[in-house]
Amino acid sequence: EKGNHRHFMQKEIYEQPVVVAQTLRSYLRRLENKVALPDMDFDLAGVKRVTIVACGTSFYAGMVAKYWFEQFARVPVDLDVASEFRYRQPVLEPGGLALFVSQSGETADTLAALRHARAEGQTIAVVVNVPTSSMAREADLLLPTHAGPEIGVASTKAFTCQLAVLAAFAANLARAKGRMDADEEKEIVAQLAEAPAAMNAALARDEAIEAIAPLIAPARDVLYLGRGPDYPMALEGALKLKEISYIHAEGYAAGEMKHGPIALIDDAVPVIVIAPSGPLFDKTVSNMQEVQARGGKVVLISDAEGIAAAGDKCLATIEMPCVHPLIAPLAYAVPVQLLAYHVAVAKGTDVDQPRNLAKSVTVE
Ligand code: M6R
Repeated sequence: EKGNHRHFMQKEIYEQPVVVAQTLRSYLRRLENKVALPDMDFDLAGVKRVTIVACGTSFYAGMVAKYWFEQFARVPVDLDVASEFRYRQPVLEPGGLALFVSQSGETADTLAALRHARAEGQTIAVVVNVPTSSMAREADLLLPTHAGPEIGVASTKAFTCQLAVLAAFAANLARAKGRMDADEEKEIVAQLAEAPAAMNAALARDEAIEAIAPLIAPARDVLYLGRGPDYPMALEGALKLKEISYIHAEGYAAGEMKHGPIALIDDAVPVIVIAPSGPLFDKTVSNMQEVQARGGKVVLISDAEGIAAAGDKCLATIEMPCVHPLIAPLAYAVPVQLLAYHVAVAKGTDVDQPRNLAKSVTVE
């Protein structure tokens, strides 16, 4: 039931600190400062390459994971949308690890990709929210998210729980590969444990975000920009907005703007910039200034330091807590979801049951 909330999507956005904490409980051993995975009958240390396959929002969680696995574990990652995976005849070395990410565990393309990878001799790991699903049953290693049932067609809490599991998996892989010592592991455990509080702080911005929605609702097109792990968050922000508000939205790597999309910029195209302060901040801000120089109206999502440095010429800013780069995608998912939600409400669309969409896509 929706409780005090107007829509399931809103309820599920608000549940995130609790369900992410619940999910992390099974992947972190707080007292020992360690990450932990369920028992598995293969050795993570032997993994030379990971192939990640998923659709939609789950694909974007997989894309964030690619950054993490490569950065922390130095393991190369291939990433595919499931509907492309089989048909490009991917080269899969025997004994490779293939990782599938799905809320439902039933998405037809992802399930077909899983069976293809199995036939090609891959070890199969799945991150799924429905523990009784086909993917859960067919996996060698089941990594459950504990988001509880997700009713809104737009995925929210399943996404952040996927990120939590994938971050824990990245840390396990890094340890197995000898890329992370006990102090680094302790730091990662401490940062992940902070994620629910950071998400709560982001939820506290709800009213400010609601106030921005009327500025976005009249737009025909919206662009989202981010760099590094915030690039998939830009893609996710654009997907959320288009699926529930029907506004055309695109996510871009901030540095790609000047290779084409900047031609679209005028004062009728809001540009949402996702830029936590950190090593990539200055570069993203310079892309943001290129947009502003062409009359583009920017909504900057950053922390106090980022907003102080770059927020003055923006149409609006959304101030986030200052977070470690590892948990930034978890925290920044919240304003991105809330913005899409409030724009859809302002437009009067059917938030929980958007047109033409089904919760679980069981045809290829
Ligand atoms: O159940 P799955 O995670 O496999 O579903 C994948 C996509 O269909 C899903 O994420 C879709 O993109 C959502 N409607 C996005 O909000």
